[in-house]
Amino acid sequence: MDKIGLFYGSDTGNTQFVAEKISERIGISGIDVFDVRDVEIRKITSYTLLILGIPTWFDGELQGDWGDQFSELEHIDLTGKTVALYGLGDQFGYDLYFLDALGILAEKVESRGASIIGEWPVAGYGHTKSKAQRGDVFRGCALDMDNEPDLTEPRIDKWLDMIIPEFEAATAKAAERKTANQMTTTTRIEG
Ligand SMILES: Cc1cc2nc3c(=O)[nH]c(=O)nc-3n(C[C@H](O)[C@H](O)[C@H](O)COP(=O)(O)O)c2cc1C
Repeated sequence: MDKIGLFYGSDTGNTQFVAEKISERIGISGIDVFDVRDVEIRKITSYTLLILGIPTWFDGELQGDWGDQFSELEHIDLTGKTVALYGLGDQFGYDLYFLDALGILAEKVESRGASIIGEWPVAGYGHTKSKAQRGDVFRGCALDMDNEPDLTEPRIDKWLDMIIPEFEAATAKAAERKTANQMTTTTRIEG
């Protein structure tokens, strides 16, 4: 599998904690982890497999460091990228805005050409409204450290079991495409 680039922003450490758990599970040789506070967002173009982690703040807003660089995404082509997202929020305290930032980020990366994987069932959550919800799924893994901290690690494990085979399939497909392109080039040169 190609190396994964994980980019997260975090004000109080919860999204960072999840990034560390994901990194432990994948193993450090398989993933590079970046706090978006410290890197230019353009760095995401160095990876074909991406995990993006974002909490929602202040009634439906993007976390600050994501917010600072969000407009730059409009200038980045994500065609051919496979992207899995996770979001942190508070389904009861902010039930009208639960995980909105996850939804806003998912929409943006999709509009830039990325394929989104790792959608997550909404059944069992107690929110009223969410920009991250499309039908009966969230656009990524939905985590709530404020109300359901004990569910965080089992949810991460289950979600990784879903997305890793998809990342492997995307890697295999890209390798096939590369081989096919090389054969076409060789045929052209020989012919
Ligand atoms: C002032 C404040 C505003 C928040 N606004 C929202 C919100 O609109 N929607 C939501 O789902 N969660 C909201 N939350 C909950 C945070 O997203 C949650 O605590 C998250 O785990 C924080 O992640 P972080 O520690 O990585 O920054 C808010 C929390 C605070 C303290």
